[in-house]
Amino acid sequence: MNDNTVGHIVVFGNEKGGCGKSTAAMHATVALLRLGYKVGTIDLDARQGTFTRYLSNRFQTVLREGKNIPSPTHMPIKRSDALTLKEKQDEESAFFFMALEEQTRENDFVVIDTPGADSHLNRLAHRFADTLVTPVNDSMVDLDLLADIDPVTLEVRGPSTYAKSVMAVREARKSELGLGLRWIVMRNRINPTNLKSKRDIEAMLQNLSGRFGFTYIQGFSERIIFRDMFLKGLTLLDLDGAETGTGFSASQLAARQEVRYLAHALVPEDMRIALMRRKKAANA
Ligand SMILES: Nc1ncnc2c1ncn2[C@@H]1O[C@H](COP(=O)(O)OP(=O)(O)O)[C@@H](O)[C@H]1O
Ligand SMILES: [Mg+2]
Repeated sequence: MNDNTVGHIVVFGNEKGGCGKSTAAMHATVALLRLGYKVGTIDLDARQGTFTRYLSNRFQTVLREGKNIPSPTHMPIKRSDALTLKEKQDEESAFFFMALEEQTRENDFVVIDTPGADSHLNRLAHRFADTLVTPVNDSMVDLDLLADIDPVTLEVRGPSTYAKSVMAVREARKSELGLGLRWIVMRNRINPTNLKSKRDIEAMLQNLSGRFGFTYIQGFSERIIFRDMFLKGLTLLDLDGAETGTGFSASQLAARQEVRYLAHALVPEDMRIALMRRKKAANA
């Protein structure tokens, strides 16, 4: 935001593949850019590389079509081919720290996508998160990502391994660094026609949010628009008329609302005010 910017770090994480981390990271990135923030991105999932491919498709589209769309500065963290595990971890950590240092210096936000598995890089990223976003797919099965739930009584027996690790990171950040960790849990691929599941899962997440200390937000419905522009590297916010909603279908408008809601949840109050000041100064 100014000469000594230290970008707000947003990590998309959980310990499961296919929940929508990369999809949510991409949509959040574009939404933050469209709000007027400078965004840097880091992909720690070198194996899948979904976020990196999504963004490289975007850069290709800009080159091919001359499309005038905002893009982040992207840095994938390559896997080290050092011989020993220790050397690999050291090298990858160093790549990560270098990327993080540069991206936080240059940007308002740094969006980090992570692999759906426990690894040293993934743990490292969680330690640096100012905001952690955990997408959970919209089914009871996926809630076990957060809590151990009795299948019959639906009673919560305690936090899952992942929730425990997030709570431990939060404690460590507080005691070692004096920094907080905002944890946002968003649902993903909500099936709008299944009202009972919608109610049950919502009630369960409300319950867990108080116990585990996260903010629960509604998240994204299951919609083709969230995946079918991947090859072009675009999101619905890049479509003509996205700003005003002109020419948008009801479903596209609803999707836009879902993405904007996530983006607003990501912006801390002080950054919101700073951006307003910056825009006013630019218009003065
Ligand atoms: N809200 C959604 N609606 C439709 N498809 C989705 C949605 N969210 C994710 N997907 C699709 O689900 C798959 C897994 O999503 P992805 O973002 O790659 O998950 P992760 O990064 O957690 O492994 C992808 O094919 C993606 O396009
Ligand atoms: Mg992914």
